[in-house]
Amino acid sequence: MKKTIKDYDLKGKKVIIRCDYNVPIENGVIKDDSRIKASLKTIRYARKNGAKIILLSHLGRIKTEEDKQKYTLKPVADRLSKLLRKKVTFIDQTRGKKLENAINNMKEKDIILIENTRFEDLNGQKESKNNIQLGKYWASLGDIFINDAFGTIHRIHASNCGLAENLPNGLGLLVENEIKKLTKLIENPKKPYVIILGGSKVSDKIGVIENLINKVDYLLICGGMAFTFLKAAGFNIGDSLLEQDKIAYCKKLLEKHENKIILPIDIITSKEISENAKTNERFLGEIKDDEIGLDIGHKTTEVFKQYLEDSKTIFWNGPAGYFELKPFQNGTKSLLDIISKTKAYSVIGGGDSARAAKEFNYQDKIKHISTGGGASLAFLEGINLKALDLINEK
Ligand code: 3PG
Repeated sequence: MKKTIKDYDLKGKKVIIRCDYNVPIENGVIKDDSRIKASLKTIRYARKNGAKIILLSHLGRIKTEEDKQKYTLKPVADRLSKLLRKKVTFIDQTRGKKLENAINNMKEKDIILIENTRFEDLNGQKESKNNIQLGKYWASLGDIFINDAFGTIHRIHASNCGLAENLPNGLGLLVENEIKKLTKLIENPKKPYVIILGGSKVSDKIGVIENLINKVDYLLICGGMAFTFLKAAGFNIGDSLLEQDKIAYCKKLLEKHENKIILPIDIITSKEISENAKTNERFLGEIKDDEIGLDIGHKTTEVFKQYLEDSKTIFWNGPAGYFELKPFQNGTKSLLDIISKTKAYSVIGGGDSARAAKEFNYQDKIKHISTGGGASLAFLEGINLKALDLINEK
């Protein structure tokens, strides 16, 4: 069992908490603060127990000096202050005297948020490549390290691995909860167990398919990735998304798990991807060469419903269609509706499907929506995650 924040006496200690505040921000306005809200539990626990709290996170990918303005964490500090009703001091640097002085002057229960850890990537990708000196430097600022960034658990960064390598450490309450919820999908899941995979790429999902195909009763395929499967099954997919180099993989999988893998039987197609697109509902075999498949059709939704209705465990990752545009929302919306009405233990992997659940107001009707997109997939792949591995055992 991994140590958690609860295994440490925090009073008067400088506790560095790695959060995942990689949230959508447009012109300084936070568009979705669920990751920020999800981090409050650990922060509140640390405050209640008298810690001096130092928060770290990355935001976006920093490639140029100009990116810095767009990806400052200042709006996150402001939102945190509001949510906690307590000033969160924002330090606009990732290292240096100003940061060190601010930390030295902290009192119990004070909170500091350090600037975007990936600003360190401009100078030799120090954060993203887990530079040894950077990890040591950040560790020198605190007494205890808590990893509460589930969304980044599959990354090997200085701000998660480097810190864990250099300080006594434990999991935050968010990560502890994610592990508990996602483990239920791997260890003795209640049957029938149905997984829905969508989104654009087969290649992103191969690890999960390989790890879970023998545990699930049905694997429902939708989204852009369905077209590589449909092509492999011998159907014309018109101008739809295709991963040519994954056709052989899909073909093999279909042959091996013929009764387990359920593909769409009808598709919403269009000649254009736009808000006013004219759409057609096509059965397989009817898709025209110049049409793009952009959502599952109504008959597919009905078929999927039959599998989902009686299931006891559901995991879903990747939208059923191009849900950002109205003409192609129905599949994703309908699946959310069907899942919300089941009694199953339902989990949505983060990323786009989590965004859809929130956009269509189903966030409270799903048992668990993970804060990690790539991270939840990596966790379900069962691969070794260094950021987790480095956390001390009890
Ligand atoms: C995410 O949003 O999936 C995580 O914060 C990881 O971000 P990254 O893909 O930029 O490493």
